[in-house]
Amino acid sequence: MEFPVKAGAPAKHRTECAILPVFDGRQLHGATKEFDRAARGAIAKLIRAGDTAARLGSCTMVHRTQGTAAARWLLVGCGKRAEFSPKRLTTALGAALNALRSGGTKEAISFLGYGTSLDPAEAARYSVEAARATLYRFDELKSKTDPPSRLGRLGLAVENGTNLNDVRVGIKVGSAIAAGSDLARDLGNRPPNVCTPSHLAEAARTIAKRYARMEVKVLDEADIRKLGMGALLCVTQGADEPPRLIVLEYKGAGAKEAPVALCGKGVTFDTGGISIKPAPKMDEMKFDMCGAGAVLGAMQALGELQPDINVVGVIPACENMPGGGATRPGDIVKSMSGQTVEIINTDAEGRLILCDAITYAKRFKPRCIIDIATLTGACVIALGHVYSGLFCNDEALAKALLEAADRSLDLAWRLPVHEEYGESLRSNFADFANSGTRDGGASVGANFLSRFVDGLAWAHLDIAGVAWRANANKGATGRPVPLLVDYLLNLDGQ
Ligand code: BES
Ligand code: MN
Ligand code: ZN
Repeated sequence: MEFPVKAGAPAKHRTECAILPVFDGRQLHGATKEFDRAARGAIAKLIRAGDTAARLGSCTMVHRTQGTAAARWLLVGCGKRAEFSPKRLTTALGAALNALRSGGTKEAISFLGYGTSLDPAEAARYSVEAARATLYRFDELKSKTDPPSRLGRLGLAVENGTNLNDVRVGIKVGSAIAAGSDLARDLGNRPPNVCTPSHLAEAARTIAKRYARMEVKVLDEADIRKLGMGALLCVTQGADEPPRLIVLEYKGAGAKEAPVALCGKGVTFDTGGISIKPAPKMDEMKFDMCGAGAVLGAMQALGELQPDINVVGVIPACENMPGGGATRPGDIVKSMSGQTVEIINTDAEGRLILCDAITYAKRFKPRCIIDIATLTGACVIALGHVYSGLFCNDEALAKALLEAADRSLDLAWRLPVHEEYGESLRSNFADFANSGTRDGGASVGANFLSRFVDGLAWAHLDIAGVAWRANANKGATGRPVPLLVDYLLNLDGQ
């Protein structure tokens, strides 16, 4: 999809459809006011007649567009003007494009960011992300698909005098984040018999081939054994599908510059193992690799944008299956760090594969480690599907991540990592156990991981509630790719 920048007089832009904002109240503003003037009050008349609503996302298509160069107007409710925000822009544009997608429109121009309080470059970035998220479909495995959207071009109108270069940078960043999110969505949506550990490794190889300054290494089971990753191995041992440890490096800065390490949970299917999960909704456990998908999506965005930073993605990928060779509750394994772990619950597998990935990531002497994981149902109970859980041992890192979350509309909420959350992990037989009390379960999981980071700045994003939607709109969201990319692009100055 193309996003040309449109400067100049709004009503003179030739387009199949002008997407115009309608705010609360009789007063017209911005581009809508100029269209109304060119059309001799036709829009004001529609509003007076009550035919268009300012309610956020309400859409009215108008075909009589006398006096303007647009063939149609799509009037989109944007709520109160004083409350207009990037989030509302995103919602309004999403509604507009949903209204357009079923028709044959090939091209449209959005005036939703024109003449508003939003920075034009930011408005452009949000518009691109919203458009691509709205038009995303996953139908590669349907034999009969809906016709694809014909909308190939969405113009972004800006006022005369706007710095067009800034806007183009906004579009470039938005496109890279959107493409990264699409990759994360595709990987998440693919069924577990397609999206295997080897499939994730293939996706990493594709990224390394396509982009400059990118290197990939894929370790197989024998390599993983040599590294002494007993925690990762005990999760995969019930599965026939072979595990992979994927290491994807983006080298945009000199070798002396410490990288950011991203560790993404890549459980391509989580049955729970011998501590098996109940049947309802178990299909959703194909999404248990969404941490890995987000790391790959973010790395792809770095490939597109080529910032001058170093980042290493470490992805432990495997299945968690029951079987004659599977790990038993009571088994004790030795992690790569040397610490031993008593497996109390084989369904607490994410922390087991991640603890070895974190230990491995330390080899790169990173400035910080950020792990991303669909780790606990408890985090879903705590935060629902709105915020990712953020656990962090470093104030500056937490602040940077929360700011990135706000800017990217990919929200995160900080939850505690106090050491008392680890008390229930006490074991009589090993250094500690992999699972403890259900109370405060998200923090207990974070506490487990914290035992492997010693001293390093570390953040853990529990994305169990935000990585996918359930029910009618079931599907991966691509989160938290926007948060990660925004954080990485704003590393300087920290
Ligand atoms: N992948 C799940 C977490 C999960 C559950 C994500 C539901 C989204 C929805 C994880 O591996 C898991 O099973 N966690 C257990 C941990 C417990 C056994 C300590 C959980 O949350 O119940
Ligand atoms: Mn599990
Ligand atoms: Zn899991």
